[in-house]
Amino acid sequence: MVTLSKSNHSAIITIDRPEKLNALTIEMLYQFEKHIANLEQDSDIRVVLVTGGGDRSFCVGADINAWAEATAIDMWRNWIREGHRIFDRLAAINIPTIAVLNGYTLGGGLEIALACDIRIAADDITLALPEVKLGIIPGWAGTQRLPAVIGPARAKQMIFTGERVTAQKAEQWGLINESVPRESMMDRAHEVAKTIIENAPLAVQMTKQIIDGGFGHNTGYRLEALASAFARYTDDAKEGVASFREKRTASFTGR
Ligand code: COA
Repeated sequence: MVTLSKSNHSAIITIDRPEKLNALTIEMLYQFEKHIANLEQDSDIRVVLVTGGGDRSFCVGADINAWAEATAIDMWRNWIREGHRIFDRLAAINIPTIAVLNGYTLGGGLEIALACDIRIAADDITLALPEVKLGIIPGWAGTQRLPAVIGPARAKQMIFTGERVTAQKAEQWGLINESVPRESMMDRAHEVAKTIIENAPLAVQMTKQIIDGGFGHNTGYRLEALASAFARYTDDAKEGVASFREKRTASFTGR
């Protein structure tokens, strides 16, 4: 299951199926989405942590046994396209997201971490996109987000070889922001979250929109959304609405 808890302006989404190293089923994908939808509407929450239950794994990707018998159409519609939609929604949420990684962070697990803004990891973590070893390919945007984060050459090395990367190498490559001893991983994530929480939430959220827009993620829509909020508070917008209500021609001042 995927759970959501909230306290002191922060929320924690936990991928919690430790007996299977937090492998994701379709049902868990939709639980994840339900929590994202909840957080999109909760203006009290200022940071979201995404983590894995148990101490062996953040997430080892999609449940191999669950998709092994899928037809091509089922794979396309229910696994890949739905995963894209749900993790794009995670990436686009206004609130900053921190992936807190321990143990195995493989396949779809790494792709979820890549959809978060910040990655804080235990120093004994292993990361990989091992899909080609199974005869498939990274399907939840690993081919897109990984090169965007670490550059095409390193992403190609990880994807072509499927080899595991240590926390030390991941930090050096910029794949994770920080690695800390396992026992202090959660404390460090909360410390970063607390610092963000103390800052002005809307200012933080606007910077997220601008940074992601600058990298070409729905740039026009993000500009439109921010500019709509700005335009709403101009004198001209007040005058426009007043003129509509008073059935007269507007007299704009450019303020
Ligand atoms: N899907 C479904 N089940 C998985 C899984 C996955 N992606 N990864 C691990 N599991 C299950 C195992 O089948 C096992 O279940 P069982 O106890 O009922 O047999 C349980 O999780 C524990 O894993 P196990 O393989 O016994 O642990 P390990 O320490 O020997 O190995 C890994 C750990 C992560 C190296 C190994 O499980 C692995 O390679 N998993 C696949 C990772 C992968 O390829 N992910 C991409 C998927 S698209």
